[in-house]
Amino acid sequence: MIENDKNQKDKINEELINTYEISYIFENKPLNRLKTKPTLEKKSDRLDQLKRKIEEIDDCELKSNAKNLVLYDGDFNSPVMIVGEGPGEKEDSLGKPFMGDAGQLLNKMLEAIKIDRKKIYITNVVNYRPPNNRKPEPKEINRYSNYLKEHISIIDPKILILMGSTAMESLFGSKIKISKERGSWKEVIINNKTYLTMITFHPAYLLRQADQKKYSWADLKELRKKIDQLNIML
Ligand code: URA
Repeated sequence: MIENDKNQKDKINEELINTYEISYIFENKPLNRLKTKPTLEKKSDRLDQLKRKIEEIDDCELKSNAKNLVLYDGDFNSPVMIVGEGPGEKEDSLGKPFMGDAGQLLNKMLEAIKIDRKKIYITNVVNYRPPNNRKPEPKEINRYSNYLKEHISIIDPKILILMGSTAMESLFGSKIKISKERGSWKEVIINNKTYLTMITFHPAYLLRQADQKKYSWADLKELRKKIDQLNIML
């Protein structure tokens, strides 16, 4: 009986195999060996387009007072993307994020978990320096969060790190508190894609509140653990 069953199954499988078209198994399309190149070009083109959109922003106090647009620093193919608040004086004059004291601390924090800053992607919520380094206002955070969301879609990171309450508010709104939300993994959906996200303290805040560094260290260790679990090479 069992033997009969087996024969029957083999027969069905054989029939099934004979009904497949060869084209179903072997596609006719040649393999593109340079697969990564068009993707690279596409990302840089898309970043250029985003930059142009931000340059065209109208009626913005941040833009009208800033020297430079600050878009990003690092590797746009990185699986790890960090979002800060906005450029300070040094960033405004150099056109790159996290170049001043907060940037120095960020570098040390990354080094402590064996991450080379050049291998990740760094940006801010607002791309122009707020006058006198004030915190961006809710309407500015709201306005620039549209560009930030497009930015995240372009970079398409595996891990997104939001540093500080401005970055948190830009994606999660202002009803939550960073002291409660930091350190745990969350999901944020942007253009139908889910991004693994962690909120943590901003390095500039840690420079003012050294007693909070212990929480930041716990978050950094959690980030390292996730990078290893996901086999992310940096
Ligand atoms: N703080 C930020 O949030 N971003 C910078 O680029 C510099 C300081």
